[in-house]
Parts: sequence; structure tokens; C-alpha cells
Amino acid sequence: MTRSSDHTDFGFRQVPLADKQALVDDVFRSVASRYDLMNDLMSGGLHRAWKDVLVHTVNPPKGERPFALLDLAGGTGDVAFRVVREAGPRTRVTVADINAEMLAVGRERAIERGLDEAVTFVEANAEALPFPDRSFDAVTIAFGIRNVPRIEQGLREAFRVLRIGGRFLCLEFSTCDVPGLDAFYDLYSFNVIPAVGGLVAGDAEAYRYLVESIRRFPHPQAFAEMIGAAGFRRVSFQRMAGGIVALHSGWRL
Ligand SMILES: C[S@@+](CC[C@H](N)C(=O)[O-])C[C@H]1O[C@@H](n2cnc3c(N)ncnc32)[C@H](O)[C@@H]1O
Repeated sequence: MTRSSDHTDFGFRQVPLADKQALVDDVFRSVASRYDLMNDLMSGGLHRAWKDVLVHTVNPPKGERPFALLDLAGGTGDVAFRVVREAGPRTRVTVADINAEMLAVGRERAIERGLDEAVTFVEANAEALPFPDRSFDAVTIAFGIRNVPRIEQGLREAFRVLRIGGRFLCLEFSTCDVPGLDAFYDLYSFNVIPAVGGLVAGDAEAYRYLVESIRRFPHPQAFAEMIGAAGFRRVSFQRMAGGIVALHSGWRL
């Protein structure tokens, strides 16, 4: 989290706030082509179950009702594809991500899967979205918010583009607090993940950053308060896998 107004965390390092985005972009540029495979390897496939909970909670309409979802920091489109598979024919998902390489992988997949009409990919910074006020029925962000340098600004933008009555859902790594599991999780995170990242994605440092950034992310209650401060109401969260992951929810009312 931010320690002073002009510096912030990049993993365990302090960097000028203005430099963080470029460092984050280097990480995802480097891992884009292997990103989805690495997610499966690192989480033992669990990220699929966590994303299923997110999609189930979005609860897109199954019938003819139109539904517009914005998936922020949507990367290679994994959440978007899951939502359209669950939804009726008039659901449209906009994947917004700052990284052209991640989006390129996603676009190719959308074409391969015949989902390029339902899913649109837009290069955009979560801190300054190129969408009108109140233009989406729901906004999701999965494993993305901790990479956004000015999290509060990202939350305000999510609020701005959401219609009244719309829901914001954020899936993110959180704080494991189960004795025993926390020690194993630390060992696994700081040793196995960078090693596998080095072997499979060719960039151990990128995965070291990802692990460290998880540890720097606010506790779920503190993050819920940040969501409330951005204007959302009825903010709640559910923890999964002993707190390794949390799903936060807020409504624009
Ligand atoms: C860990 S990946 C998550 C991708 C996808 N949501 C998923 O769950 O598979 C984080 C994503 O956040 C994106 N990102 C980082 N900073 C961003 C920003 N300021 N605005 C939009 N996207 C950003 C990265 O480019 C990357 O694709």
C-alpha cells in the first residue's frame, strides 16, 4: 500500500508512484503468452473455481434481457469468456486492460471460440476509463486491482461507469489466516511460484513481484472500507480457501 504520497509498493520495493504502472506493464508483457497456463500451474486449477464463484455472483441473465458487463484488468479474457458461456444471448462483455500483449492473446482466443461478437477488448487504464458515466450493468475485476497504482482512483472510476443499481465485484488474493496453511502458503508462494515462473514463463522476477504484491494488498476489511469510500453501498466480502482469496461486492445505489 501507499507509504507516502509520491511512492508506492512494487512488490516489497518502494518505487515512485509514477513508475509503478510501467513496471507492472513489463511484468504482464513478459508473461502474456504463458499467463493462463501459469494460472493453472500456480493455483493447481483453483483459480477456475474462484472465477466460477465470481461468475455465479455476477449472475448474468440467462434469457433475452440485455446485460453489459465491464471486466476491468480483464487481461486475456478468461472471466469474460466464462460469463458469456453462462449468460443469455444479449450479454456483452467489455474487457478493459492497459496491456496490449494481454489483450492480443484474448482477442485471438475470442475469435477461436467464436465469441468475438460478445466480447470486446479495449486498451484502457482502470484509473481513467474511456466509457460514459453509468454505462454498465456490472463491473468485475479479477486479480487486477492490486496492480493498479492508484487503487482509490480505480474504484472511483468503476463506480462512475456503473449504472444505478449495478454491482461491483472484485476477486483478489487476500490474507491467509489459517494456522499451518499460512506457513505452507508462504513457503509455496516465495519458493515454488517464482521457480515455476522462471521455468514456464521465463521470468522468475515477474512472479516474485506478483507474490510480493499479494502480501502488500490491504486486509479484506480495510479493502471493504476503500470500496465504501469510493461511493459503493452494502459492501461485503466472502473469503475463500482459508482467506487466500476474497470476493468483495459493492452496489451503486
Ligand atoms: C493478474 S492479471 C489478471 C487478468 C485477468 N483478470 C484474470 O483474472 O485472468 C492483472 C491484469 O491487470 C492489468 N492491469 C494492470 N494495471 C492496470 C491498469 N492500470 N488498468 C487496467 N489494467 C491493468 C494487467 O495488464 C493484467 O492483464
